[in-house]
Amino acid sequence: MNIIVTGGAGFIGSNFIFYMLKKHPQYRIICLDKLTYAGNLSTLSSVMDNPQFRFVKLDICDRNAVYDLFEEENPDIIVNFAAESHVDRSIEEPEIFLNTNIIGTAVLMDACRKYGIQRYHQVSTDEVYGDLPLDRPDLFFTEETPIHTSSPYSSSKASADLLVLAYYRTYGLPVSISRCSNNYGPYQFPEKLIPLIIANCLNDKSLPVYGEGLNVRDWLYVDDHCKAIDLIIHKGRIGEVYNVGGHNEMKNIDIVKIMCEALGKSENLITYVADRKGHDMRYAIDPTKIHDELGWLPETKFEDGIQKTIQWYLDNRQWWETIISGEYQNYYESMYGDR
Ligand code: NAD
Ligand code: TYD
Repeated sequence: MNIIVTGGAGFIGSNFIFYMLKKHPQYRIICLDKLTYAGNLSTLSSVMDNPQFRFVKLDICDRNAVYDLFEEENPDIIVNFAAESHVDRSIEEPEIFLNTNIIGTAVLMDACRKYGIQRYHQVSTDEVYGDLPLDRPDLFFTEETPIHTSSPYSSSKASADLLVLAYYRTYGLPVSISRCSNNYGPYQFPEKLIPLIIANCLNDKSLPVYGEGLNVRDWLYVDDHCKAIDLIIHKGRIGEVYNVGGHNEMKNIDIVKIMCEALGKSENLITYVADRKGHDMRYAIDPTKIHDELGWLPETKFEDGIQKTIQWYLDNRQWWETIISGEYQNYYESMYGDR
C-alpha cells in the first residue's frame, strides 16, 4: 500500500506518519509538505532514514508538481492534513486559508481523478459545525448537524468538505471525511493553546486567556485521532463523514490552571486578554457513529495524555525553543503585544 500523507511535517500529520509506520511497517508512506511556518522537517528526523518513508517538499496548490508526484508514486490512498490551521491567523489573513484549504484540496482530488486511487481522505474539523451554547450541555455535534461556520479558518475547511462530497457525488471519487475535535500531544506548534501555555509557564511568561476563559473545547489525544483515521481509511464507508471526539469537554481556564499546577507555576501568571473575534463558545462531538460502525473509542484519558504531553515538551525543549526564538517572535508580538 502506497499512502501519500499531505501536511506530514505538521502536528497531527507527523504523529499519523509515526503511527502508520509502526502499525503497518509494510506500507510505504510519502509525506508531501510545503514546509510553511507550521511545518518542521526536524519533526520527521526519526523516520527520514526509514526505507518505507519519503519526504517531498511540495505545495498542494502546485498542480503540475502534484500530478508529477502521483505519476511517480502511484498512490493507493491520500490522507490530506495539509492546511493553514490556526483560527487567529485566519482572522488576520484569510486569503492563504482559501488557497491552501480549498484550492489545494481540489488540486489533490483532481490528481486522484486523473491517476485513480482507492481512497481520498479529508482531515476536517468539528469547527465546521460552528459552536454550541454553554447553557445547553445536552447538545452535541452529530454528522447531521448543519454546517454553520464562524471563522475564515472553519469556513475554508467547510468549503473543502463540501467540495469533497461534491467530487464523490459528481465523479464517484472514493472519499471519506473525519471531523475531529481539538487535538493535543507532542509536536504541536506553540501558537495553539496547550503548547503555548506550557512554553510560557516554562519561561515564566504571562499566560494569555481570551475573554473570560469560559469557552469549552473537547480535547483528544493525537494518537486517538490517528487511530480513528487509520480505521476510516481501511474500513470506513465511502462518501461518509465520521465525527471524532472523546467526550472530554473542558473550559480554557481550567486547562490553563491544570498546566500551572502540573508545572508548579503560580496562577498569578494568568492574564485575561481581549477576546478572539467571533470566538466559538463550545465544541462537543457525538462520536456514536464511528463507535458503532468502526468500534473506535479513545484510549488515552486526559490526565494521562496531558502528563505525556507536558513531559514531551520538557524533554524536547530544543524543538520548541528553536521555533519560538525565530520568526514566531514577530507573530507573538503582533498577536499579544498590546492585546
Ligand atoms: P499544522 O498547522 O500543525 O500542520 C499543517 C501542515 O500543513 C504543516 O506541516 C504545513 O507546512 C503544511 N502545509 C500548509 N500549507 C501547505 C500547502 N499549501 N501544501 C503543502 N503543505 C502545506 O496543523 P495540524 O494541527 O497538524 O492540523 C492538521 C489537519 O488537521 C488540518 O487540516 C486541520 O484543519 C485538521 N484538524 C486539526 C485539529 C487540531 O486540533 N489541531 C483538529 C481537527 C482537525
Ligand atoms: P486554539 O488552540 O487556537 O484552538 P481552536 O481555536 O482551534 O479551538 O485555542 C483553543 C482555545 O483556547 C480557544 O477557545 C481560544 C483559546 N486561547 C486562549 O485563550 N489563549 C491563547 O493564547 C490561545 C492561543 C487560545
